[in-house]
Amino acid sequence: MKILLASSEVHPFSKTGGLADMVGALGKALAAEGHEVFIVTPLYRGIRGRFTELRRVGVRVEVVLGEMLMEGEVWELRPRPGLRVWFVEQQECFDRLGLYGENNADYPDNAVRFTFFSKAVVQIARLLPGGAPDIVHVHDWQAALVPALLRREGHRTGWTPPRSVLTVHNLAYQGRFAQGAFALTNLPGEYFTMDGVEFYGDVNFLKAGIVYADMITTVSPRYAREICTEAYGCGLDDRLRARGDRLAGILNGVDYDEWSTHRNIHLKHPYSFRKMGGKAATKHDLQRELGLPARADVPLFATVTRLADQKGMDILLGALEEMLAKEMQFVLLGSGDPALQRGYQNLARRHPTKVTVRIGYDHALSHRIEAGCDFFLMPSRFEPCGLNQMYSLRYGAIPIVRRTGGLDDSVVDLTEDEERADGIKFTEFTTRALTGAIRKALVLHDTPHLLAQMRKNAMTADFSWSRTTQEYTQVYQRALAG
Ligand code: ADP
Ligand code: GLC
Repeated sequence: MKILLASSEVHPFSKTGGLADMVGALGKALAAEGHEVFIVTPLYRGIRGRFTELRRVGVRVEVVLGEMLMEGEVWELRPRPGLRVWFVEQQECFDRLGLYGENNADYPDNAVRFTFFSKAVVQIARLLPGGAPDIVHVHDWQAALVPALLRREGHRTGWTPPRSVLTVHNLAYQGRFAQGAFALTNLPGEYFTMDGVEFYGDVNFLKAGIVYADMITTVSPRYAREICTEAYGCGLDDRLRARGDRLAGILNGVDYDEWSTHRNIHLKHPYSFRKMGGKAATKHDLQRELGLPARADVPLFATVTRLADQKGMDILLGALEEMLAKEMQFVLLGSGDPALQRGYQNLARRHPTKVTVRIGYDHALSHRIEAGCDFFLMPSRFEPCGLNQMYSLRYGAIPIVRRTGGLDDSVVDLTEDEERADGIKFTEFTTRALTGAIRKALVLHDTPHLLAQMRKNAMTADFSWSRTTQEYTQVYQRALAG
């Protein structure tokens, strides 16, 4: 099949979260299966400097946004056979410090930036060498207008547009803008209704995708069920229920070339479940790097996360206040909500020999933390898939997760299956329930044979992309079948 993936972030070129990892790995995996894959993504500041092999392909886009004309130019990189990444250059829109905003505030013109991007994707779909793709697979709100725009382009010009698939990585981010933004789409008024892109008087990009895509997927089976309920549906559950026969939950895979404990440029001491010495050495180095006492016997808890409401860092702060009286260490790497940043920095000040907080984004350190820690905390309020728990499994760090979304689908608790258990789960979203889970971790840490067994289960659990790719291919086939 010929497949166009459109995403506002793609690892290793741009990333704010798991979306980038997922799309980068999906493109790679589909190409490895023999598909012809194009990934279309914005050319953000700095990409050309870091990837000097980028070349112009001689494709220009001319996008009309309301009355305004915006031009763009396409740059290409071919990371492997069958995969081409097309970067859309548009300096006013994308040559900026951040992807979506700066200093915790969204850019005020995000509707313009991502309507431009979505329209560029539609034009590119018509301009691909060898003809249009079979499938246009778009990700999250930033590209979610594409299915509506494809349909409109078909009606306007008599072109038969490719089938479209929308993947919802996070229903909480919808791309909702005041009604004025509708003019940017140049869609006829009939699209601005309750059954179209209109949402309580505003424009909702993600809703447009949910309404007009041929197939909708999300990133775990449990999240697919959750978003059809009022509690997790973020106001769109009725729309999702209405399209229930077109909605599939597919758990993300892990790129084990990247997230490996024995072939990894970020790890000085390789290890495997048969030879765990390297993990102990990594923990030792990490404790020293973080300014914590380098003690093998003290359990090291960690989290690497966006400090956003979704991630449950508020209940974690409460739980740590209580649990730090015990012999344990904790490290946080993350950034986001200023109040949470302050809360954690304050905690570190009060417990200098037990807690280290690194505010910022550091890819290499995230590998060292996953590898060096004993327990990895993800107490999310909701979690569409979550990648870090799967990374930590492979790295032999026992995940402590709330029973929600992809966390529930990827971790096995002792109470579910004693033999296959590889993590600790809790259910209620409360400090108390999380405290209970951390207590269980401390007991597990003092039970070496059980810990070793769970670590082995964790490190051998397999979330490789071959299964995920197969499921996406089935979704593409369904979209093509009509
Ligand atoms: P989400 O996409 O909701 O943030 P995921 O668990 O799917 O959650 O993916 C998060 C990704 O972002 C992981 O690859 C994680 O390692 C990375 N990440 C998040 N915060 C940081 C940070 N401060 N430094 C380095 N990597 C980070
Ligand atoms: C979103 C979700 C996260 C998921 C990621 C990749 O950022 O918050 O749970 O793992 O997308 O699909």
